[in-house]
Amino acid sequence: MNILITGGAGFIGSHVVRRFVTQYPNYNIINLDKLTYAGNLENIKDIDQSSNYSFVKGDITDLEQMRSVIKEHSISRIIHLAAESHVDRSITDPLIFVRTNLIGTSNLLQACKEAWKNDWSGKLFYHVSTDEVYGSLELDKRMFTESTAYDPRSPYSASKAGSDHMVRAFYHTYHMPVVISNCSNNYGPNHFPEKLIPLFINNIINKKSLPVYGSGENVRDWLFVEDHARAIDDIFHKGRHGETYNIGGHNEWSNIDLIKTLCNVMDKKLNRVEGESEKLITYVTDRAGHDMRYAIDASKLQDELGWTPSLQFEEGISKTIDWYLSNQDWLDNVTSGEYQKYYNNQYGE
Ligand code: NAD
Ligand code: TYD
Repeated sequence: MNILITGGAGFIGSHVVRRFVTQYPNYNIINLDKLTYAGNLENIKDIDQSSNYSFVKGDITDLEQMRSVIKEHSISRIIHLAAESHVDRSITDPLIFVRTNLIGTSNLLQACKEAWKNDWSGKLFYHVSTDEVYGSLELDKRMFTESTAYDPRSPYSASKAGSDHMVRAFYHTYHMPVVISNCSNNYGPNHFPEKLIPLFINNIINKKSLPVYGSGENVRDWLFVEDHARAIDDIFHKGRHGETYNIGGHNEWSNIDLIKTLCNVMDKKLNRVEGESEKLITYVTDRAGHDMRYAIDASKLQDELGWTPSLQFEEGISKTIDWYLSNQDWLDNVTSGEYQKYYNNQYGE
C-alpha cells in the first residue's frame, strides 16, 4: 500500500508519519510537504532512514505536481494534513489560507480522481480537519457533534470548512471513498511556538511576557497529539467511507486556568519560586472574532471504533514541558532569524 501523507513535516503530521512508518512496515509512506515556516524535517529525523519512508518536497497548490506525484508513486490512499493552521496568521493574510486549504485540498481531490479513474477499490482520501469549522460555543454544556451545522468564523476555519465541503462533494458526486475527522486543539512535542501552549512554554523558559488575549476566559478542549495520531490510525483502518468522526479529549480548560497551570508546573520543573512565572501574564487586546469556546463530543468515535484518549492532561502537559526543556536546540532552531525573516517577508511586520 502506497500512502501519501501530506504535511508530514508539521506538528501533527510528523506524529502521524512516525506512527505509520513504525507500526506498519508493509506500508510505503510518502511524506509530501512544502516545508513552509511550520514544516521542519527535524521533527521526523528519527525515522527518515526507514526503508518504507520517503520524502517529497511539494506544494499542494500545484495541481500538475500533485498529478505527477500520485502517478509516480502509485498512491492508493491519502492522509491529508497539509494546511495553513494558525488563526492569527489567517487574520493577517487570509488568501494564503484559501490557496492552501481550499484550493490545495481541491487539487489533491482532482488529482486523485484523475489517477484513480473511477476505480475506487482499495482507495481512500482521508481529510484531517478541525473542530473550528463548527464555530463558537457559549460557556454552557453543549458540545460539537458530527451533525452540528458548520458556522466557521475565522479565515482559517472558513478555509477548512470549504475544504471539508469539497471532500464531501467528491464523495457524493463521484463516489470517491473519503473520510473526514474534525479534532479539537492538540498539544505535545514539536508544536510550533506560535500556538498558545508551545509559545507560552518558550516564553516562560525565557522569562518573556505571556500575552493573554482578552479576558482569558475563552475555552479550548485539549488533546495530546499522539492520541490524535492514534485516532487517525483507527479511522484510516476502520472508519466508514463518507463518514465524519469528531476527535476530542473531553478536556476543557479556560485559557487563563491553563496558563496558570503551565506557570505552576514550570516553576517546579525550573526550580523557580512558586508564582514567579505567573507574574509574566499580560492581558493584551483580544483576537479579532475570537471564538469563545470549543468542545467536542467524541462519542461516535468511541462507540464505533473504541477510541478514547489515553493520557490525562496533567501527564500530557508534563510530558510536553519535559520535551521542550530537553529539546532547546529544536526551539532555538525554529525561533531563529530564518523564521523571523520568513515571517517578516510573508506578513510585512
Ligand atoms: P502545522 O502548521 O504544524 O503543519 C502544517 C504542515 O503543512 C507543515 O509541515 C507545512 O510545511 C505543510 N504545508 C503548508 N502548506 C503546504 C502546501 N501548500 N503544500 C504542502 N505542504 C504544506 O499544522 P498542524 O497543527 O500539524 O495541523 C495539521 C492538520 O491538522 C491541519 O490540516 C489542521 O487544520 C489540522 N488540525 C490541527 C489541530 C491543531 O490543534 N493543531 C487541530 C485539529 C486539526
Ligand atoms: P491557539 O493555540 O492559537 O489555537 P486556536 O486559536 O486554534 O484555538 O490559541 C488557543 C487559545 O489561546 C485561543 O483562545 C487564543 C489564545 N491565545 C492567547 O491568549 N495568546 C496567545 O498568544 C495565543 C497564541 C493564543
